[in-house]
Formats: sequence, C-alpha cells, structure tokens
Amino acid sequence: MSATTQNGSDVFVPLSEATLARFAREVAKYPAEQKASAVMACLAIVQQERGFVARAAEDAIAAYLGMPPIAVYEVTTFYNMYNQRPVGRFKLNVCTNLPCQLRDGQTALEHICRRLGVEEGGTTADGAITVQKSECLGACADAPVMLVNDREMVSFMNEQRIDELLAMLQAAK
Ligand code: FES
Repeated sequence: MSATTQNGSDVFVPLSEATLARFAREVAKYPAEQKASAVMACLAIVQQERGFVARAAEDAIAAYLGMPPIAVYEVTTFYNMYNQRPVGRFKLNVCTNLPCQLRDGQTALEHICRRLGVEEGGTTADGAITVQKSECLGACADAPVMLVNDREMVSFMNEQRIDELLAMLQAAK
C-alpha cells in the first residue's frame, strides 16, 4: 500500500497488525454480511493513528471491508471530520452555508485566513492551525459558527471573538 505524505512523496504504509485488530473489533459489532457498517469506525481509527486518511488507506479499508473503494471515498468526502491530508494541531471548520453566510460566515472565514496568512484549506507555516470551510454544522441559530478539532463548537464568531480564539489556539500550540 502506498500513501502520499505531507511533502508529497509516496511511501509504503501498511496497516499494522494492531490496526487490523482494532478493525476486527469494530467489524465484530455487526452481522458478518454487514461488515461495511464498520467503515466510519475504521476510518476514525486510521485518522486517530496517522492524523489523516490517505487515499491508500481508504483503499485498504475498502479491501478489508469488501466494499468498492468509491463507497469509502463517499464517506470521507461527505464528513468534514475525516482529513484527507495532514492538518495542523488545531483544525477550524468554518461554516459557510446560507444561514451562516447571512450572518457574515464568509467574512469570518476571510478574517481568519487574513489573520493567519493562509488560504482556505491551508495550514499555518508552523503547522499549528488549519482553516477550512464546512457545510452546515447544525447550529444555524448561533451563526456564524465554527468547529474546533471536530469537537468544540464556537458560536457568534464576530471578529473580536475570532481574534480571541486564534490567540488562545496560538498560545496553546
Ligand atoms: S448554516 Fe452554519 S450552522 Fe447551519
């Protein structure tokens, strides 16, 4: 199996026995003919261990679960929580769907990118923060909202609150 690393080189990255054992525990939770149901768990395991899910890892998971690779790609591209390339220690998903857009979601995204000196989808030079836009995060009433590391929702993100958040993340890097 090969994978593309952060610097773009291809390296052989086999799934370890320990990883396969974790896959097996997830697969065991489902009937034998439904082992594809473990796809999200397997993707989460790879991401937890490697920080992102390379295309080669998606292919390996597809083979392990007996799924077409495209069915795995559909999962990784649908959910923002799966990183398809290396990301910074902190990942900011900024909602730019309509309700957030109507309350300056795009402005918030542009403000963050300007403050950090990155393009949307990029990572700061020190590897600390990745910024990307996301689909609706399910908290439209709190717009504009963003999600930190796929877990912590931050709401009503005007420029002052964004600057405070960025200062906190940069202090913690
Ligand atoms: S549109 Fe941004 S949270 Fe729903």
